[in-house]
Amino acid sequence: MDQLKRQAAARALEEVRDGMQLGLGTGSTAKHFVELLGERVATGLKVIGVPTSETTRADAMRCGVPLTTLDEIDHLDMTVDGADEIDPDFNLIKGGGGALLREKIVAAASDRMIVIADDTKWVPTLGKFPLPIEVIPFGLGATRRAIEKAFAVCGVSGQMAVRKAKDGHVFVTDGGHWIVDAQLGCIVDPPGLATALSAIPGVVEHGLFIGLASSAVLAGGEGIRVIERRKPKGDQV
Ligand code: A5P
Repeated sequence: MDQLKRQAAARALEEVRDGMQLGLGTGSTAKHFVELLGERVATGLKVIGVPTSETTRADAMRCGVPLTTLDEIDHLDMTVDGADEIDPDFNLIKGGGGALLREKIVAAASDRMIVIADDTKWVPTLGKFPLPIEVIPFGLGATRRAIEKAFAVCGVSGQMAVRKAKDGHVFVTDGGHWIVDAQLGCIVDPPGLATALSAIPGVVEHGLFIGLASSAVLAGGEGIRVIERRKPKGDQV
């Protein structure tokens, strides 16, 4: 599986051109991309990256990839990031690694977002992977009730749990927030659910990426598939 992730990352690297400003994703697949990018930088490629997490920042620095911020540059040419699920409309679930907020800010600031993944992430319907929802700890009870109402309106339901770190303590994001993972099973209307969750005051962001991905590079046992999204970018939620 790790080999497939690296193959997808290597294929995405073929899209990188000298002088590009790149969003650098988070997760085990995106980490391969950062490592391979670092090898190209070492042989003369000129790029600059914006990392989507403190983990990716550390990886990029270790690999010699020059970094900047979205305050210093006005746009990104391309973001390369992993995903937890991708559906045929290029709706994504992201945030399994907890970096969904910065990932979405960076993807939205990019002309293109290439999703790299092993092909098990390509699914007919989103929702088997628990949906991460980044929340403010204050008033969490009220926020959870509002989320449940949004679920009901959007025709989904399921258990919610505050994410724990490996040490058993509450997982805290790079932004200092918590994550609630929702086991929904099948999300019938991802754009509708994304809009409903975004309207809840205690929700900082959610892991539904709608209208952001432009293409997917999927590596499987039978090779690599590059799938382009048909609709133009611009209807992101
Ligand atoms: C990080 O917050 C996530 O959005 C990851 O991009 C996603 O979980 C995919 O991770 P892997 O590449 O490790 O499967």
